[in-house]
Amino acid sequence: MINLTINSNPITVPEGTTIMEAAKANHISIPNLCYLEDVHKFGSCRICVVEVKGAKTLQAACITTVFNGMEIQTNSEKVRKARKVIYELLLSDHSKECLSCKRNQSCELQELGKTLGVEETRFEGERSVRPIDASISIVRDLQKCVLCRRCVTVCNEVQGTGILNAQNRGFDTVIGPAMDLPLGAVNCVFCGQCTVVCPVGALKETDGIQKVWRALHDKNNRVAVQVAPAVRVAIGEEFGLEPGSQVTGRLAAALHSLGFDDVFDTNFAADLTILEEGTELLTRLKEAITGKGSVLPMITSCSPGWIKFIEHEYPEQLAHLSTCKSPHTMLGALIKSYYADQVKVKPQNMFVVSVMPCTAKKFEIAREEMKNNGVPNVDAVITTRELAAMIKEAGIDFLSLKDEEFDHPLGMSTGAADIFGLTGGVMEAALRTVYELVTGRELPFDGLHVAPIVGLDQIKTAEILIEDPVKEYSFLNGVTLRVAVTSGIKGAAVLMKQLRNGHSPYHFIEVMGCPGGCITGGGQPRSHDSEVRIKRLRGLYSEDEGKVIRKSHENPYITAIYTEYLRHPGSHISHELLHTHYKKRGEFNEFTKEKFVLSPEPSTRKKYEIAADREKEKKQQTPIRKTRSEQESERILMLEAENERLKKELSDTIETVDILKHVISDSKYKSEMKSKTEMKSKPELKNKPEMRNKQEIKSKSEN
Ligand code: SF4
Ligand code: SF4
Ligand code: SF4
Ligand code: FES
Repeated sequence: MINLTINSNPITVPEGTTIMEAAKANHISIPNLCYLEDVHKFGSCRICVVEVKGAKTLQAACITTVFNGMEIQTNSEKVRKARKVIYELLLSDHSKECLSCKRNQSCELQELGKTLGVEETRFEGERSVRPIDASISIVRDLQKCVLCRRCVTVCNEVQGTGILNAQNRGFDTVIGPAMDLPLGAVNCVFCGQCTVVCPVGALKETDGIQKVWRALHDKNNRVAVQVAPAVRVAIGEEFGLEPGSQVTGRLAAALHSLGFDDVFDTNFAADLTILEEGTELLTRLKEAITGKGSVLPMITSCSPGWIKFIEHEYPEQLAHLSTCKSPHTMLGALIKSYYADQVKVKPQNMFVVSVMPCTAKKFEIAREEMKNNGVPNVDAVITTRELAAMIKEAGIDFLSLKDEEFDHPLGMSTGAADIFGLTGGVMEAALRTVYELVTGRELPFDGLHVAPIVGLDQIKTAEILIEDPVKEYSFLNGVTLRVAVTSGIKGAAVLMKQLRNGHSPYHFIEVMGCPGGCITGGGQPRSHDSEVRIKRLRGLYSEDEGKVIRKSHENPYITAIYTEYLRHPGSHISHELLHTHYKKRGEFNEFTKEKFVLSPEPSTRKKYEIAADREKEKKQQTPIRKTRSEQESERILMLEAENERLKKELSDTIETVDILKHVISDSKYKSEMKSKTEMKSKPELKNKPEMRNKQEIKSKSEN
């Protein structure tokens, strides 16, 4: 253990702890901007600087580890002045369009300004001009990027997709795909995990709200909405509730209040998926065991980010994917066929909106494969965050709503459907049904939860021995069913490498594109609660446990739709409406010309260029004729004012440079920090400015 003091308070923490972690564990808050709990990689913003006794420069608390006897001040005058200057320099190259910014009032940069007590920004230097990159799922507005690199960490370290990186150097640094390509033209999987961690309005989902309002106001449409399982344990956070709070009844009420004609539940189609996917699995197993040849393992196909990943990176393995569409596109297809028929509305006049925890679903609905007779299964996807914004815009007091139910017949679901929203849930729901169909007995796990695949580990596996099956499935007698579950693209890559190398021992694999599954999808509320994933996960399990019916095949409305319309799982009509195929894309999109770029033209550049042109024009206007003495006195006044301004700027600059000298990190010092002994023997340290600070200094010096 390490003993140190923070603000003169003695503290003991484990070895390897950073100053930031030590402070947090002892309820001392250090302002920060780029810090990302658990996966922090780069100390790029320097907002978290603190004073360490014996160190020549201020130290970044998030990346400096503690040592025995360390004396830290987190709130000295030097520290507070330094943070303010760094903040002002950040703002000097920021668009500052708060009033019209999507992140207004949920922006960490705004919040930081309040925390630091910044009331003015003194630096107005050269502004970088960056285009807006709009893809079908995500918009990058780099005019607002503060180069914190959180997105880089998530894209590379958490998802392992490696799309976002720092390009160019110094003042020209931008965060984005290589060669300045737009997101929609590269192998980005549109998971949206980068939009969740971005502290400002630089990364966000592509707007779906306006399209939904237009549909709601169009009297020619009948507008149906459906809600994914994970939305119900997260949307409450947007209204101040704890993560995992169950607000299903209020959610249905809010959707009715917004004016949707039909309020359905994607959970209904989750139950349907289990029947279709379970049948597909049993067919593939039978073909494999009876020597007919079949592609195993079968892999789930409900996560569009995962689908895009396999299409780009493992196109030769597409046959392993289940042919089932994702639950919301299945429901969309049913709404525009079975239900449209019931209510006597033409499919093209039925507008289907999906409320999803996911940004990749915006890409999914644009796929040609998600259409029937040229009509898209789903017309608009909005994220959980966007639905909350619509509820607020409509002036609905979410917290005081009375519980309502989803509409029938496509709103009734079982507990098995609820757990589709978390990692391991689709597998558990499938096993509840498949095991019971095969053996006639209930799945032999406490509370129907398959314990080895419950939780947030990256890869989970389970084995289930099948004994004494019913006659129809006698070919499975004595078979040990091997299953694997993973969430996050990085985990998927591990299982896919096994498959490519011919070493995959599994019959059935569940893959979700986001770490933890849809509960932490890219469209879910942003949160500072480190326990958020586990709280939402518990919320969904408890929603499942609260249901009377917890197995998909026992949903009476599912039985009814097969009797009335679909006939049986895997029928011809089921295949037409509920199944699909996927596309080989290749790592560099070499197998398809498809791009998902919405606005290749840099609209922001135009705006700034227009402003600069106007300024130029103004200067070039012919001045009104004045007498010589009038001109002289005007000139003297101007010179005096300019003199005052320069004096103030000079004094600010001297102070800023002085402060920056204390902030710029010293790598030699950092290596020496590891040992108290070395620290004591080398108190004098040298400065080595980092890229970030070079940029700031350049910006300042150009003022
Ligand atoms: S990102 Fe934040 S600070 Fe920047 S314009 Fe938007 S709300 Fe304002
Ligand atoms: S959407 Fe996902 S894959 Fe694409 S850039 Fe963001 S984190 Fe990376
Ligand atoms: S896009 Fe957002 S998360 Fe990425 S570096 Fe810029 S501000 Fe940070
Ligand atoms: S929070 Fe420490 S450098 Fe950004």
